[in-house]
Amino acid sequence: MSIVVTGATGELGRLVVERLLATVPAESVAAVVRDKEKAAPLAARGVEIRVADYDSPESLAAAFRAGDRVLLISANEVGRRIPQHTAVIDAARAAGVAQLAYTGVLGGPDADFQLAAEHKVTEQLILDSGLPYTFLRNGWYTENYTANLAPVLEHGAVVANAGEGRIAVATRADYADAAAAVLTGEGHLGVAYELSGDTAWSLAEYAAVVSEATGREIAYKNVPAAVHQEILVGAGLPEPFAAILVDVDEAIARGLLAGTSGDLARLIGRPATPLAETVAAAVAAA
Ligand SMILES: NC(=O)c1ccc[n+]([C@@H]2O[C@H](COP(=O)([O-])OP(=O)(O)OC[C@H]3O[C@@H](n4cnc5c(N)ncnc54)[C@H](OP(=O)(O)O)[C@@H]3O)[C@@H](O)[C@H]2O)c1
Repeated sequence: MSIVVTGATGELGRLVVERLLATVPAESVAAVVRDKEKAAPLAARGVEIRVADYDSPESLAAAFRAGDRVLLISANEVGRRIPQHTAVIDAARAAGVAQLAYTGVLGGPDADFQLAAEHKVTEQLILDSGLPYTFLRNGWYTENYTANLAPVLEHGAVVANAGEGRIAVATRADYADAAAAVLTGEGHLGVAYELSGDTAWSLAEYAAVVSEATGREIAYKNVPAAVHQEILVGAGLPEPFAAILVDVDEAIARGLLAGTSGDLARLIGRPATPLAETVAAAVAAA
């Protein structure tokens, strides 16, 4: 039996493997990756590399073994994820894995925005498969904001169409620790965790935190959805992706990413990383 992480060369996956290596022997950890070269640093640390592509069901046939505890990290190509996730679930079922944990989205079936649609279908596919499951319904990454500091500092403003909506973000490392906890612990089968930061803040508050960290006046500029769409496309984002981000902001305005169930802090045994800490680190690195 191994603990298997898909998407192990991605940003979240690398952190999950890191946390696992701090907890269990390297020989009990396997990484499912599509690019063996990219996984060389993991192999060097003793992690078993299983090469498979979500787009190739044949390659997935050898990705899992009976009794494995598997983390399916949701794929990153919106619109392609249902066949991709279906292929992973089918392979996991054929192998007879002992646990399939899946990184979905905060709110699960109640999340009604575009980006949530494929996560909801995937959860249902997992339920239909009959596999022992754990749903890790991740809220927004703090890094979605801090990775975007450059234009905020350039324009002196956080621009969005989220109104006064609040967002309970946590860092990828927080979500990774939660994933590692359910893969190494007991009592997590048949459970859906609503994972998010301990505090929900508005974008006006985020702008104030950035002001504090930089010593510069940063405003929050709430704009209509159509204007935000134009700004994002003008900044070089493809139209469909810009539309998804605008739709997410509308969901934030409706309070859909504000949930603070406390599940994340309970799973990781510590508070989620405070916003100000992540912002300060990002400013220092900029
Ligand atoms: N909660 C949030 O705020 C938030 C934000 C962004 C994304 N997400 C979701 O969370 C997931 C993990 O986040 P992340 O930051 O780790 O994203 P990421 O760095 O883009 O990682 C995605 C991983 O999926 C792998 N992958 C993609 N297509 C694949 C395929 N056809 N076959 C095999 N592997 C494939 C990638 O492989 P390579 O390493 O080879 O590229 C990568 O390792 C994302 O994929 C997305 O579904 C959530």
